[in-house]
Amino acid sequence: MCGIFAYLNYLTPKSRQEVLDLLVTGLKRLEYRGYDSTGVAIDSPDNKNIVMVKRTGKVKVLEEAIQEHFSGGEYSEPVLTHIGIAHTRWATHGVPCERNSHPHRSDEGNGFVVVHNGIITNYNDVKTFLSKRGYEFESDTDTEVFAKLVHHLWKTHPTYSFRELVEQAILQVEGAFAIAVKSKHFPGECVASRRSSPLLVGIKTKTRLATDHIPILYGKDDKKLNPDQDADSGKQQVLPRSESTSEFMPLEEKEVEYFFASDASAVIEHTNRVIYLEDDDVAAVRDGTLSIHRLKKSLDDPHAREITTLKMEIQQIMKGNYDYFMQKEIFEQPDSVVNTMRGRVRFDGNAIVLGGIKDYIPEIKRCRRLMLIGCGTSYHSAVATRQLLEELTELPVMVELASDFLDRNTPIFRDDVCFFISQSGETADTLMALRYCKQRGALIVGITNTVGSSICRESHCGVHINAGPEIGVASTKAYTSQFISLVMFALVMSEDRLSLQQRRLEILQALSKLADQIRAVLKLDSKVQELAKDLYQHKSLLIMGRGYNFATCLEGALKVKELTYMHSEGIMAGELKHGPLALVDDSMPVLMIVLRDPVYVKCMNALQQVTSRKGCPIIICEEGDEETQAFSSRHLEIPRTVDCLQGILTVIPMQLLSYHIAVLRGCDVDCPRNLAKSVTVE
Ligand code: AGP
Repeated sequence: MCGIFAYLNYLTPKSRQEVLDLLVTGLKRLEYRGYDSTGVAIDSPDNKNIVMVKRTGKVKVLEEAIQEHFSGGEYSEPVLTHIGIAHTRWATHGVPCERNSHPHRSDEGNGFVVVHNGIITNYNDVKTFLSKRGYEFESDTDTEVFAKLVHHLWKTHPTYSFRELVEQAILQVEGAFAIAVKSKHFPGECVASRRSSPLLVGIKTKTRLATDHIPILYGKDDKKLNPDQDADSGKQQVLPRSESTSEFMPLEEKEVEYFFASDASAVIEHTNRVIYLEDDDVAAVRDGTLSIHRLKKSLDDPHAREITTLKMEIQQIMKGNYDYFMQKEIFEQPDSVVNTMRGRVRFDGNAIVLGGIKDYIPEIKRCRRLMLIGCGTSYHSAVATRQLLEELTELPVMVELASDFLDRNTPIFRDDVCFFISQSGETADTLMALRYCKQRGALIVGITNTVGSSICRESHCGVHINAGPEIGVASTKAYTSQFISLVMFALVMSEDRLSLQQRRLEILQALSKLADQIRAVLKLDSKVQELAKDLYQHKSLLIMGRGYNFATCLEGALKVKELTYMHSEGIMAGELKHGPLALVDDSMPVLMIVLRDPVYVKCMNALQQVTSRKGCPIIICEEGDEETQAFSSRHLEIPRTVDCLQGILTVIPMQLLSYHIAVLRGCDVDCPRNLAKSVTVE
């Protein structure tokens, strides 16, 4: 949900054009987070003002506007120190248009400009407060109140530093946000903060820093503005000033560049040294020095924020020879599944070690039940592995959509173990559900792809799925890696069950063959493309299956919907006769998954129910299964594997099919309309 990028060069000469290039490249890396409008703010050539460029549409449109307006002349002069802030938006308040695009400004003079990700929930109260003091609003966004609030505080508290002004503004706002603020009144300074939305600071220096830690400063205020107070009297409302309770040790480096970004993919080409900000951290750069401040000290606060070295490679976030990130990520799956298992599964000794949760296994074995919670594709990975988890853990397993789980105020107990599955690790619904369960004393296990994400940090223990960066909005390789992570967990839980050893062995052997089998399925690509040509002009696609493949039906239908804007429904084949069969006729496209597993006979019944209504389904079946293939001229054969891993092989044709239909329909595969990769609003 929205991408924030800010760049500050201190004593590192860069022309404004170079700064703009950096900002645009940063936004391109974050575009998957939101792509309905964009904007940048930099200093004017005379350094007396801030210039902003905003455009509706994708970063490309902004890039063209920048090239048109800012090429040559004074924009190519090097500047020693400069700050630029940039934003790519996924609209929450106000339609996508230039007026609602970020940065938002405090006043006509552009005194303070703000980029924001998330939602300020009490923006109406703050707006009322500011309106009574003469502020006029020019957008429909919640963000604008923040810029104007900082301006109001600046006018009423002229001695405050930039950081203090932003801190005081943060104390007045509620909701989830990450922000970066620039001001013409505080040249050379940048202040950024987060609460429930991700933000990190990348640090680039010529030589290594003398320390790997940035000490934290503490303040101790928490006073709310009263919207009605002082409005008519015109008196200034006095806010308490925050006080530092610890000494700040500046970094020793002189020449330094800082990057503030919503995620690491936007900074990795510049530096691999980052600090992940925590909720309510306020990071401020002044005179080239970064300080991190907290408004209130809490008992479990560390003394410093550690600089983390990113393991990510730049190639991982580039498209390479592929047309789309999604396509690249589908084809990466033979490797990503191996990376998920690397160092964890020992095929020779039939052993599995999950370092991130091994100390908690005895506690998990004693639990009342397992709860698997997530949204969208991540939820489907829970549906896909539930049966195996029930079989191998012999525990009750509940699978929950995070939003519904919260709506129901689901009872949670201290002896529950709650898994939170999330590619991004930042999905607001999942994160809220995590906090809900944590407050009630449950053990929290995170299954995430993004190291350093909120879910990752707030879990007691967890498994990194190690799928590598997933940029396409449609989740593909993260799904198969989440699937395998949960299978590995089931195997760990059954390690000492004698009666389950044969079953474990069968699964381990199947895991060892998985990468090659995925390669074989990917070879179906051109056949799938041909099927897509038959389907892309239809309005709907029904996807049917049951047992271990029901999750593939749900996930396949989600992929078709989000990428192609066609209607699609994943149907539990057992439910066919209870309603969905009415949809079937000779013109309704149907895809059925019919594999040789314990529910094969039941799937065949469903297949016959469809064909006897003149349905002509595409069948996903096992290699060489002529008996099943006889029911349709269109089929995709996949290699045989153990029942509980079939879902990994059957989902790949669905990923390819949705991809090809989307291309044929002229849809933007990596950036489907109305969506964003990381859903950080509830
Ligand atoms: C998948 O293709 C979707 N884009 C979406 O359903 C996604 O899986 C969901 O928003 C959850 O995201 P997360 O895994 O990052 O929590």
